[in-house]
Amino acid sequence: MQKSELLPPRRTILVALMLLALALSLGVVSLMYKPDSMTGSGIARVGGPFTMINHRGETVTEKSFAGKFMLVFFGFTYCPDVCPTELQVMTTALNTMGTMTDRITPVFVSIDPERDTVDVVANYISNFHPRLVGLTGSQAQVASMAKAYRVYYAKVENKERPQDYQMDHSAIIYLMGPDGKFLKHFTYTTDPAAIRDTLVQVVENYK
Ligand code: NI
Repeated sequence: MQKSELLPPRRTILVALMLLALALSLGVVSLMYKPDSMTGSGIARVGGPFTMINHRGETVTEKSFAGKFMLVFFGFTYCPDVCPTELQVMTTALNTMGTMTDRITPVFVSIDPERDTVDVVANYISNFHPRLVGLTGSQAQVASMAKAYRVYYAKVENKERPQDYQMDHSAIIYLMGPDGKFLKHFTYTTDPAAIRDTLVQVVENYK
């Protein structure tokens, strides 16, 4: 008698807890996929005007890249793994597209201008695609371009060896159209073949 009276409320609580858990997990999942929601209304807000210094020491703006697709990656030359990996992924993707690759300008943007001088950037990018353009600039120029591309970066201090600090940064590859508008982005886990396939498709169908 007592048991049957207690059971229903317990069951109700259990069901309520399960529903709460489900709601929470759905909420977490939707938050996790937030970056991908850039395919929605956020598209137009990625990119825009910038003024930077290229690896030849010349001042360049978004207009310097007009007429070609731009494959853009933000990082820093002292990065131990993510940046070299991603630049190699970009290089491999571009090297497997045949002549279509000529329509795309790969760009590496330093978010560590303190150490990434023009010479350091020039030397670094020579390890990757021959047409890779390296960009650096003043702290303000870099901050402005990173903001336009919604790139997060932050210095991670090294107490023992201050000069060996690291940089935290988002590792997204952006594909911009010949008009400078955002088209697609690739996350860190996208492999070169998948990037190449998407690039080929986008370039072929671009009007
Ligand atoms: Ni990096």
